[in-house]
Amino acid sequence: MKALPVVTWLLTLSVAVIASFVDDILQAIENAVDCGSCHTLLAALEPVVFLGDDVFVDVLVGVCKATKVEDADVCEGTIKEQAPIIAHDLRETSAFGKTGTRICNALLGLCQQPDVTTYKVPILKTQPATPKAWHSTGKTPFQVVHFSDVHIDRSYQAGTDANCSKPICCRPYVDHKGPVQRPAGPSGSHGCDTPSSLAQSMLSAVKGQNTKFSVFTGDVVEAAVWLVDPNEVTSDLQQFNKELATLLNSPVYPAIVAPINAFPRNTSTDAPSAQWVFDTQAAGWTPWIGGPAADSVKHMSGSYSSVVQGTSLKILSLNTMYWYRQNYWLYDSDDAQPDPNGILSFASRELEAAEDAGQRVWIIAHMPPSSADAIYDQSNYFDQLVQRYKNTISAQFYGHSHVDEFAIAYSDYTKQSADTATSIAYIAPSLTPRSANPAFRVYDVDPDTYEIMDSRTFITSSISNINPSTQIFPASWKQEYSARDTYGPAIGGWPASQSLTPAFWHKVTEAFVSNDPIFQKYNALKTRNYKVAACTGDCKNQTICAQRALRAENGCHIATPGFHWRRAEGEVVDPHLDHCEGTGLADIFWKVSTKVVSVTDAFFNAV
Ligand SMILES: *[C@@H]1O[C@H](CO)[C@@H](O)[C@H](O)[C@H]1NC(C)=O
Ligand SMILES: *[C@@H]1O[C@H](CO)[C@@H](O)[C@H](O)[C@H]1NC(C)=O
Ligand SMILES: *[C@@H]1O[C@H](CO)[C@@H](O)[C@H](O)[C@H]1NC(C)=O
Repeated sequence: MKALPVVTWLLTLSVAVIASFVDDILQAIENAVDCGSCHTLLAALEPVVFLGDDVFVDVLVGVCKATKVEDADVCEGTIKEQAPIIAHDLRETSAFGKTGTRICNALLGLCQQPDVTTYKVPILKTQPATPKAWHSTGKTPFQVVHFSDVHIDRSYQAGTDANCSKPICCRPYVDHKGPVQRPAGPSGSHGCDTPSSLAQSMLSAVKGQNTKFSVFTGDVVEAAVWLVDPNEVTSDLQQFNKELATLLNSPVYPAIVAPINAFPRNTSTDAPSAQWVFDTQAAGWTPWIGGPAADSVKHMSGSYSSVVQGTSLKILSLNTMYWYRQNYWLYDSDDAQPDPNGILSFASRELEAAEDAGQRVWIIAHMPPSSADAIYDQSNYFDQLVQRYKNTISAQFYGHSHVDEFAIAYSDYTKQSADTATSIAYIAPSLTPRSANPAFRVYDVDPDTYEIMDSRTFITSSISNINPSTQIFPASWKQEYSARDTYGPAIGGWPASQSLTPAFWHKVTEAFVSNDPIFQKYNALKTRNYKVAACTGDCKNQTICAQRALRAENGCHIATPGFHWRRAEGEVVDPHLDHCEGTGLADIFWKVSTKVVSVTDAFFNAV
């Protein structure tokens, strides 16, 4: 009883202190208009972070609520989850250093990524004088399915509103106001993540493809990042592993990705461990990848390799989230760490072992190294491995972008041509209908070379003429297009006996330059004909530039404030169509910066 007045007094004090910090921060955000002033903003955050994570969270929540950029629960959930990582970073680094530049790039889009720091990836042996030649004897291809970004929302409820005030809709929110405007369909709706029924429908379609195995490049949980907690994520991961095991009749080789992409490096101090993600997936994946690979998932931060039974094909699954610019744990030191958690060294060892054993390798991971979200340094270092082992790697497979696309690696990025194209990355469309029509891919694979003879994308059958107000996806799937049939004629034909080589894909990009209708066809296929955004001029130039840059520094990516609303390709999308992570801290910062001027006064009137 006696303590109560003191507590009340402290609370009152802290409300005033917090309000004054909120004022300072709103002012600093208002002034942050370029890279230099963004560093000044970070410096303004420093006094707050040294008062502790709770104060920093309260201040940012105050900023978020004052500007009303998100519903209160979204402000609180997202900031509580991610702001302590930024606070930790700011305590450990200089606001004006290179790491500060990276934070300004990832969080606010106000700085470009710094130039790559030169580093030579350990290469165990030099390229053999006569590398193993891979010859096809023309056997019938086998099939492999690739699916990605399933983002299953176990709280999806048909009939709830698909148009809501939060980043992810189609859930029974208690604070939803007014009548339902756009009822969530029984099998999915745009603007929402995937209901279980749609995921199960896809898995039954995958089973029908009679595949030798599947590749799953990750993102299991829904993007309601402000609500997720480790218990829910664990149960979501386990549930999907179980569905894969029971609904498919062939192995799955998955790639790891975490709920909010928050993987601390093993050099971080006072960081929560992400080991529970690795342990959960190691247990769930053992039936397909085997015991030794599961052990690697546990001890190599989610990465593993596994040879597909009865083949000479090694799947090398890498955790590329240590190269992901929105993994804010990567910014807690001013010292360059070229190989966080040893993922590159692991890849180097595995590639050498495969070459020594006469095996071919498929690299799989969630985030493609070509992404605007890839840190240029690690993308560059990874590319060194790709160039050294180009003969061993027959293809690479990624997800993350939600769109149907590809990227090419070159031995010389200043002389990009069919002759210098050395590797091809297949970037799969998403299952989630959030910002596109649900899809998966089927590859026809040469059994001698493990090269891709064709890449065919499948979609649910009624969605080519989808209109945002109709949202039912029947449980039937059909082939949308074949890469060989669609692009082969555009490059003057491609021999039936030849795989879709890196040179094939380079020629396709040349066709895009000279033949606009085929480029526009590609542009529509990216989202599977959902809300196709016009792409000409700079957008087209940028898109082709990115296709020719598995090494991200060559991808013509330009960070801009609000990059989350503008895809790397320059396509303008609305917030509900946002990429993988839904609303995160970066989104909130951007929204605040656009609204900050008008509402500062309103906040102080409210306080
Ligand atoms: C979605 O909700 C907003 C805000 O209430 C409204 O302006 C918009 O027209 C709605 N859209 C649809 C498709 O119902
Ligand atoms: C971090 O992991 C890498 C790769 O396993 C290892 O080489 C390194 O020693 C580890 N560092 C620390 C500080 O544990
Ligand atoms: C894109 O534009 C730049 C600068 O104008 C030009 O050098 C480049 O060749 C263009 N790329 C393509 C693929 O059109």
